[in-house]
Amino acid sequence: MSDTSPWSKLKSEVYSLFGRNPKSNRIVPSIADLEPSHAVLDIGCGPGAAVRCAAGSVARAVGVDRSAPMIEIARRRSGRFSNVEFAPAGAEDLPFEAGTFDRVWTIHAFHHWEDADLGIAECLRVLKPGGRLLIVESETKGAHGLSSAGASEVADRLRAAGFAEASVSKPHRQLVVTGVRSGDRHSEGSSQE
Ligand SMILES: C[S@@+](CC[C@H](N)C(=O)[O-])C[C@H]1O[C@@H](n2cnc3c(N)ncnc32)[C@H](O)[C@@H]1O
Repeated sequence: MSDTSPWSKLKSEVYSLFGRNPKSNRIVPSIADLEPSHAVLDIGCGPGAAVRCAAGSVARAVGVDRSAPMIEIARRRSGRFSNVEFAPAGAEDLPFEAGTFDRVWTIHAFHHWEDADLGIAECLRVLKPGGRLLIVESETKGAHGLSSAGASEVADRLRAAGFAEASVSKPHRQLVVTGVRSGDRHSEGSSQE
């Protein structure tokens, strides 16, 4: 994957120095109800802090980022983990089979996605039945996050995409939109409003 993203090598190195292990990245694995058998995916993983935080609690922890330099940094920092993988990929075209992951999350990255609806559809596709998507953003009225109203709109988009449930919460001062995939493949999308 060529690096056409605005997250250049220099910007990625600087970001990863200043945000070595951000609080939001430590919190997310703890609010995701992880189980030892789980496979989890972090979209827009950056330097991979949340993937490494989750690695001790799950069977498989994967990070993707459309920035190749970010993936290089994440791999460099994760050599000691045997159950961690990183791949250069965008939310809109995830290189995984349907029904691969128990949890998918994206931390401070959703507002960068080029095509949010396509990305949401991809998240639903790669989740196992009963799996959960967590979209984590700072609460802001500016461009780098979501407002409360914006988070409610994202929850509506999750329902419209076929998530059986969608809700907004504010744990640890983060704005989290959670979508739950139906546990039954046959009833997928049946609870859309
Ligand atoms: C502000 S950084 C957040 C990184 C990390 N999640 C964290 O919290 O430290 C946003 C990241 O999202 C990535 N990104 C933006 N749009 C993306 C997309 N459509 N698919 C995958 N990654 C994306 C960027 O390359 C960047 O690494």
